[in-house]
Amino acid sequence: MAQGYGKIILFGEHAVVYGYPALAAALNLGITCSVQAPRSSDFVLHFKQVNMVVTEHDPGPIAKALKLVAQELPCPKKYCDIELNSEIPFRAGLGSSAAFAVALIKTLLAWHEIQWNAEQINQLAYQVEAIFHGTPSGIDNTVATYGGLCLVADPHKYPMPSYVACTLALPKFIAGFLLPLAEPIGIVVIQTNKDRETKKLVDHVRSLYNTNPALYEPILAEMGTFASKGYEFLVNQNYRAFGDMLNQNHTLLQRLEVSCPELDQAHKDALAAGAWGAKLTGAGGGGCLIAFCPGHESELIQELSRKGWSCFMASIGKKLTNTP
Ligand code: PMV
Repeated sequence: MAQGYGKIILFGEHAVVYGYPALAAALNLGITCSVQAPRSSDFVLHFKQVNMVVTEHDPGPIAKALKLVAQELPCPKKYCDIELNSEIPFRAGLGSSAAFAVALIKTLLAWHEIQWNAEQINQLAYQVEAIFHGTPSGIDNTVATYGGLCLVADPHKYPMPSYVACTLALPKFIAGFLLPLAEPIGIVVIQTNKDRETKKLVDHVRSLYNTNPALYEPILAEMGTFASKGYEFLVNQNYRAFGDMLNQNHTLLQRLEVSCPELDQAHKDALAAGAWGAKLTGAGGGGCLIAFCPGHESELIQELSRKGWSCFMASIGKKLTNTP
């Protein structure tokens, strides 16, 4: 059995498109794949949670992903049935497609007894992401592969700070891996269950930006500074300041018009239920909100569930695999 991690963006989504830093974190939750039985031909994926079966010859991106990964195996194929299990929702900004890619690649490598390093896995996962998302930034597959906390930025615009432990070049950015936190920290993820498309939201921000760069550049720059400060606040357990900054980042994302009534209501409800801070995560327009309330996650989940929200607890900040 092999896992790919889900991700959240703590600070700096959209700002990162303009070169500013974003702070992403792997979740302790993700997607797992496991080989169920050998087959004489074809790889077949069974996703029992949604009653779905996909073979590599079917139409659609999941089948294409399966075909690509099978093609890239550097040896004769040993076919099998693969079971997929997900602990995170799909199409909600939590990096499910990247987590799936990494879990699938690792599972087929293990089944064929092939040793690949994390960089090879990450590169193939990026190609799988391209099947799902066209021209991905590479953040999701990197976090899904390596885990941990990761600061990403355009190296021409923003040099990596001294507290970054090691770096990795992605197609568009540099990823800087941060030291794990002494204790992983809890995050409550609230689902709006509203579908959204990252590309449309990125395009919307681009059209706002083009109409008035002088207005929007400082907003993006400020979100970038949150990404840099976020890790220091977490390491120093300055949780109140971290929570305040989540709220400020949510307000700036509202000014970029990427929030929506559901996310804003979830934000209000999370604060009323005792969260120290909350913000949308990822592109916005739906998807998920993250709420921060260290040590009181169960109470927060209980109160939000009472109001009708689907939510769950995850944790971030643990060293999940070896960084490059
Ligand atoms: O696709 P999502 O919801 O994980 O969001 C992507 C984050 C953006 O900054 C909005 C886009 C990007 O490519 O970095």
